[in-house]
Amino acid sequence: MQTPLIIGHRGASAVAPENTLAAFGQALTDGADGVEFDVRLSQDEVPVVIHDRDLRRTGLTNAKVSDLSARELGAIDVGKWFNLRYPSMSREEYEGATIPTLEEVLRFFDKTKRVLYVEMKTDKTNAHKLATEVVRCIREHDFTHYAVVESFALEAVAEVKRLAPEIMTAALFERKLSRPAPSADTMLEEAIACGASEIALHHTLARKRCVEKALQRGLRVAVWTVDESRWIKRAAALGINALITNDPAKMRASLDDFCAR
Ligand code: G3P
Ligand code: CA
Repeated sequence: MQTPLIIGHRGASAVAPENTLAAFGQALTDGADGVEFDVRLSQDEVPVVIHDRDLRRTGLTNAKVSDLSARELGAIDVGKWFNLRYPSMSREEYEGATIPTLEEVLRFFDKTKRVLYVEMKTDKTNAHKLATEVVRCIREHDFTHYAVVESFALEAVAEVKRLAPEIMTAALFERKLSRPAPSADTMLEEAIACGASEIALHHTLARKRCVEKALQRGLRVAVWTVDESRWIKRAAALGINALITNDPAKMRASLDDFCAR
């Protein structure tokens, strides 16, 4: 029986400040097979690891990521907000956590190579540059066989595939309030058209029929963001490749329980 990979969403973001080396280290301690994280370009076109377009939520400052250099971003504290918002999980060492560059994250995982879901946050204008930089870093740091590069911007996924056919990619799909959920066939056609090896679905889109159809068409399936134990059984039954979770400790324990039955 195939059991799913446990992937820490922005690291172990339920218990540590997201997208920091602290959260990635915690995910490893918690038994994750790998981590997911977000990359966007700094003003000087360095891929840096941060989810939001601006620094208000995690940097407690009013600036845009794209207006600051990687060096300036690397000096911003993105751990303090977590301690303030989640006092019961706060730790002294989180304060002072900074925004890593993609290179720093790859160096961090250099010795314990893990599966890395690298999500490109980009619009059409920056897709080529971000894809180029992500591919360069992955090749230089020898992560070609460990990285899955994903994006909602399917033109960026296609660009990675064009630049580096050997790197695995995933097409991301979400449910938007403003429009009806995309059909399974539409998502599969779009994923195949951009050359993705995998389809990464918001959990509300991961219906049985859709997962089955994806597998039939040779696409692996990842599901995000799932923190409930019931997903372990469902993933094993359906052949889902990876569960992206904020709480890898809980999902690892649930997977171990499931395997022991
Ligand atoms: O990996 C998919 C998931 O991370 C996409 O949503 O907003 O958490 O980046 P978001
Ligand atoms: Ca993400």
